[in-house]
Amino acid sequence: MNPRLELLHAYPFERLARLKAGVTPPAELAHIAMSIGEPQHEPPAFILDTLRDNLHRLGSYPPTIGSIELRAAAARWLERRFSLPANAVNAETMVLPVNGTREALFAFVQVVVDQNPDALVLMPNPFYQIYEGASLLAGAKPYFLNTTPATGYLPDLDAVPAEVWKRCELLFLCNPGNPAGAIAPRAYLEHALELADRHDFVIAVDECYAEIYLNDNNPPPSLLQACLTTGRNSFTRCVVFHSLSKRSSVPGLRSGFVAGDPALMSRFLLYRTYHGSAMAVPTAMASIAAWNEDTHAVQNRRLYQQKFQRVVPILASVLNVTHPDGAFYLFPDVGDDDERFTRDLFASQNLTVLPSSYLAREMNGLNPGRNRVRISLTANVEQCVAAAERIRSFLLKRKST
Ligand SMILES: Cc1ncc(COP(=O)(O)O)c(C=O)c1O
Repeated sequence: MNPRLELLHAYPFERLARLKAGVTPPAELAHIAMSIGEPQHEPPAFILDTLRDNLHRLGSYPPTIGSIELRAAAARWLERRFSLPANAVNAETMVLPVNGTREALFAFVQVVVDQNPDALVLMPNPFYQIYEGASLLAGAKPYFLNTTPATGYLPDLDAVPAEVWKRCELLFLCNPGNPAGAIAPRAYLEHALELADRHDFVIAVDECYAEIYLNDNNPPPSLLQACLTTGRNSFTRCVVFHSLSKRSSVPGLRSGFVAGDPALMSRFLLYRTYHGSAMAVPTAMASIAAWNEDTHAVQNRRLYQQKFQRVVPILASVLNVTHPDGAFYLFPDVGDDDERFTRDLFASQNLTVLPSSYLAREMNGLNPGRNRVRISLTANVEQCVAAAERIRSFLLKRKST
């Protein structure tokens, strides 16, 4: 067996299932899941129709590189969404379709990391667990960059020792972040690029929440924008990951793309050819329709904005909770052990949140998820409001006992 499998940590949802085992919630309350980041909005009909209309094309093997129509749809969307000059993204050499960003994040690490035993992959802490697992299986060590209120929930790149930069092969950023929803401004990304040049590493930005943001005047920028402002017309050292799961509310479609540096993308294509991860043609056709259409993404964002507007005032009376900049989570400090809070809330209200210590590791004596929970606003507006009311009554009851 691959000995590196032993290095993997239990997935947060496995730990959550263990935490809840044996607890019986009140049967009169229907369960509300706010633990998992699975969008629950109705998938747009035109995407489902396109998928259905192309089912007959399951009779052929799809090419790993994907059709040029799909890569062009992704490239043109990047240019529209991030105000890049026309044809700044070359669909032939800079874009590859992937079956959701999860598998792509994993696979990309296997491509980039060499077999040097000192190799480090830097990532925010808390983080999306694939970054860590992929690094461990690639033979690199994950190095965690704490994100806290004091750092604006962004990794403090200036606090990283030179010794660590020297060993860094890949820096992961997530913009907007999961779970805190912080948006890294363009100047921050430009600074990351300077460091990448100085210390010779690759930057991978997970931009899967790029379409979910609270303030219409503050859309999250892309690393690709920062590349252009710093004169990198070919996105040297950079890749970004995008997904239809959150943008178009189709997490089951398993569709996204990776874009960036053509030299990295050609190695990634080689890896994927052997990895065997081509996108099915009906999925690709539905994805072309989705990337070519923007109004459904605006409507989808509005629903999240509405939920934050309704939920935050209810919780603010009992919890120190603020509007995030982006993504669809709340990440409050609950002033208590996050596992105990999660278990007691489930026992009392039949409502599941995620202990945020499961999303982070202890670094420099701190687990930045400790005493916090992640509340995912993916259910419909009414359910999110009902959930906020249950959390409020749970906390009020607790205060009075
Ligand atoms: C930060 C982050 N990256 C990537 C993903 C994976 O998304 P998908 O594989 O559906 O594109 C998720 C899913 O929750 C996520 O939270």
